[in-house]
Amino acid sequence: MQYLIANWKANKNLEEIHDWFETFLTLLEQDEKVTHALESQEIHIIICPSFPFLLTVKELTKNTGLSVGAQDISVKAPGKYTGEVPAVLISNIAEYTIIGHSERRSYFGETEEIIKEKIALATSNDITSISCLRNSEDIVPQNATIIAYEPVSAIGSGQNEEPALVMEMKRRLNLGTEQSFLYGGSVTRDNISAYAQTGEISGYLVGTASLDATHFFELARAIL
Ligand code: PGA
Repeated sequence: MQYLIANWKANKNLEEIHDWFETFLTLLEQDEKVTHALESQEIHIIICPSFPFLLTVKELTKNTGLSVGAQDISVKAPGKYTGEVPAVLISNIAEYTIIGHSERRSYFGETEEIIKEKIALATSNDITSISCLRNSEDIVPQNATIIAYEPVSAIGSGQNEEPALVMEMKRRLNLGTEQSFLYGGSVTRDNISAYAQTGEISGYLVGTASLDATHFFELARAIL
């Protein structure tokens, strides 16, 4: 089983989201292989828009086999926290959430402690965490089932990390059999097969290449 996750980051307004889905769903309708893989859950395709559009994406993915994910959740429970989005408020909308992305760690001061609390909040609200690690020093949170290794040098740089180095990281993490190891960092249609060929990677967290519906669809095709 493979995960293919679109992390749109702070991109895409309502109109752009509608355009993206028009293209993506047209390609999906015409492609038996990807349609079948979604139905049989051989692949999980998760779309992570920014918060205001979670519900829109939920509606656009209805009956398509695609899933919805948030890019983050608040470390707070509901209450007087202006601007925050606690897990419980989106638990009927998002099935997944990214937690501890390196951009959250470096621009928003997210610590291991905060990440741990967010994962606990996601779990208690039936949201599956996609836990991001930048290197082997970052702690693999307890109970994390989906771990995405994203080396900072590879994120958004066009410099994807060599599959051999990604494999080395996987070995170092020594994950349990119930944990899925994903790679993220400049994944494109030109390099995704090299990772898939290792047979050791359970999916991909994709930023830049997910912004283009056709490119993202090609990634799904390439790993099936
Ligand atoms: P990228 O982003 O594909 O643009 O490198 C990946 C990520 O940050 O999740």
